[in-house]
Amino acid sequence: MKFFVDTADTAEIRDLAETGLLDGVTTNPSLIHKAGRNFLEVVREICGIVAGPVSAEVVATDHKEMMREAGILRKIADNIAVKVPLTVDGLKTCKALTGEGTMVNVTLCFTANQALLAAKAGATFISPFVGRLDDIGTEGMQLISEIRLIYDNYDFATEILVASVRHPIHVLEAAKIGADVMTAPPAVIRQLFNHPLTDRGLEAFLADWQKTGQSIG
Ligand code: G3P
Repeated sequence: MKFFVDTADTAEIRDLAETGLLDGVTTNPSLIHKAGRNFLEVVREICGIVAGPVSAEVVATDHKEMMREAGILRKIADNIAVKVPLTVDGLKTCKALTGEGTMVNVTLCFTANQALLAAKAGATFISPFVGRLDDIGTEGMQLISEIRLIYDNYDFATEILVASVRHPIHVLEAAKIGADVMTAPPAVIRQLFNHPLTDRGLEAFLADWQKTGQSIG
């Protein structure tokens, strides 16, 4: 499963990129607002940090204007994935852009039928929001299973990008279902490394090593 980080904080992205485990970045208008920086400038910087797909979202709601904004975004770098909302105009834009060889991430997906439409529109990525579904008392991960089944039934190449990931259990469940990608905030990715028994075990090994009086090399 590919790991994308869901942030526009370039310090966090640099730090996680150093682990060698980061396959891409997703941003959205809320994350750009949180970063407090110029949109095009921050996205350009991110594209220079990671080689994998960097999602940058259009803010227009009609197809013509979405295409104009996408034209600006895709010029930033070859690894831009233009993010469009799952609307009629968004999917029209998706079809046109992927037809021209631009990666497209279709966002704000909440049903398997929406995911089916995105795949038919040639989406590179579909972003179902599991956390926001959990928030309203439904089972977000159920949606991932349904999309996996449908995409496998028809051999759709669209990658399932699990979004709105809030905790490590979401990552685990997504991996068990066979999602292609997950995007999570930096803090959730860092949580994946941790276990108190790892810390305790390491402490004990190092204490015993100290007692041997040896050093390596
Ligand atoms: O990038 C979209 C998505 O991951 C948003 O997550 O936590 O705002 O629902 P959240």
